[in-house]
Amino acid sequence: MNAAKAHADKTNLGFVTLVSIVAAVGGLLFGYDTSVISGAIGFMQNLFHLDNFMKGWAVSCLTVGAVIGAAFAGTLSDRYGRKKMLISAGVLFSIGSVGSALSGTISTFVWVRIVGGIGIGISSTLVPLYIAEIAPAAHRGRLVSLNQLAVVIGISAIYFVNRAVAGAGGQTWDINTGWRWMFGLGIVPGVIFILLLLNVPESPRWLVKQGKNERALNVLERINGSTQAKAELKEIHESIENESVSIATLFRQGLRIALIVGVVLGILQQVTGINAIMYYAPSIFQQTGAGTDAQLTETIIVGVVNLVFTIISLWLIDRLGRKLILLIGTAVMTVSLLIVGYEFYSGHTSSSLILVFILVFVAAFAISMGPVVWLIMSEIFPTRIRGRATAIASVALWAADYLVSQLFPMLLAGIGPAHTFWAFGAMSIIAFVFSLFVVPETKGRSLEEIERGWGGKPGGKPGLK
Ligand code: GLC
Repeated sequence: MNAAKAHADKTNLGFVTLVSIVAAVGGLLFGYDTSVISGAIGFMQNLFHLDNFMKGWAVSCLTVGAVIGAAFAGTLSDRYGRKKMLISAGVLFSIGSVGSALSGTISTFVWVRIVGGIGIGISSTLVPLYIAEIAPAAHRGRLVSLNQLAVVIGISAIYFVNRAVAGAGGQTWDINTGWRWMFGLGIVPGVIFILLLLNVPESPRWLVKQGKNERALNVLERINGSTQAKAELKEIHESIENESVSIATLFRQGLRIALIVGVVLGILQQVTGINAIMYYAPSIFQQTGAGTDAQLTETIIVGVVNLVFTIISLWLIDRLGRKLILLIGTAVMTVSLLIVGYEFYSGHTSSSLILVFILVFVAAFAISMGPVVWLIMSEIFPTRIRGRATAIASVALWAADYLVSQLFPMLLAGIGPAHTFWAFGAMSIIAFVFSLFVVPETKGRSLEEIERGWGGKPGGKPGLK
């Protein structure tokens, strides 16, 4: 790790940061697209006369697209490169935005949302991966987490729009056109993303994998200076030569654990309930007796807390390390979820403790699982199969997101808020135990060092701790 730190001192951090920020615009699209529906759905329900099933489907179809996009992102990016696939994601997202805005029927809307969702699935998988492949080890955590910061900025921005639109009793915008603008405006960040991407370099690790060593060296030199670049090129080269290409490699002893870590963390990030809050916050606050105005204001507070604590996490992630942050975060998430559940259980539904502990939960998630899970998914797999392997974990994450967002209203109605939050709390306990016993520490290690760690002892225990 000290070696990594010493290297990083010669790093052209300005350049890498700029490239990472460009890639992270993909995160902004992710946040924007997953949340925009929450403001629009009310208008759409009236216009298209949606029943509850169609309402749920209009909200969740995006995650179905994202599962598809994530599934293809891996193979395609291993074959065609990270950059081309990110640009394709920008194009799909833009088509989705304009298409949603112009939809004349709900079924057209669902189809184009799925198209946009495919773009989100691709970018959510490849943005962290691309940044991880370009970033120097000592700064990788922070740089990759810029993506999560952008996701949260996208989500929070939409909360403000929602409140502004609903501000005058929902009458500010014409029911026929208002919601169309919410979707249509997505074309602006979409096109900006595509144009900016044209100016960033391809991932040096992917270039080496393609045998394009000179171009790879060129990129590495711009990042690290020429001496360090040569050493790094050699290291990347060796690690790629040692690998077999097949995805079956993932089921080998050590790497099997990497796959389990990626997939299980992806699922746990979702089943601990964050998007029940992100997508349904106003309905939850309604259960505490808050009026429409208060619901939307409280939702904005949720967004701001999410944003502030994500920024704090950027500062902590390369200092404390991924594992410690996960342990602290999941412990606090567990306690707050159990308290929220208890408040509902004991009938204190108007208690301000519910809002307070939902905020504590969001803060703990924003520091830990939010950024750390996407980060670990992008750094634990070997370069040769990183695209495909990360995609498997990303598919699991999006599928779990689909289930939670689809089932949450039914859980609230069926088993009630107390048991629903306790169920999320139980999942957080599992996340804590899993982080303690299974998740390795990757802080400060180069991707090649991490890769060698998996070759560790028989039984799959990586040499990482
Ligand atoms: C993470 C999750 C995403 C969630 C967001 C909330 O990016 O993957 O589903 O909406 O955090 O901040």
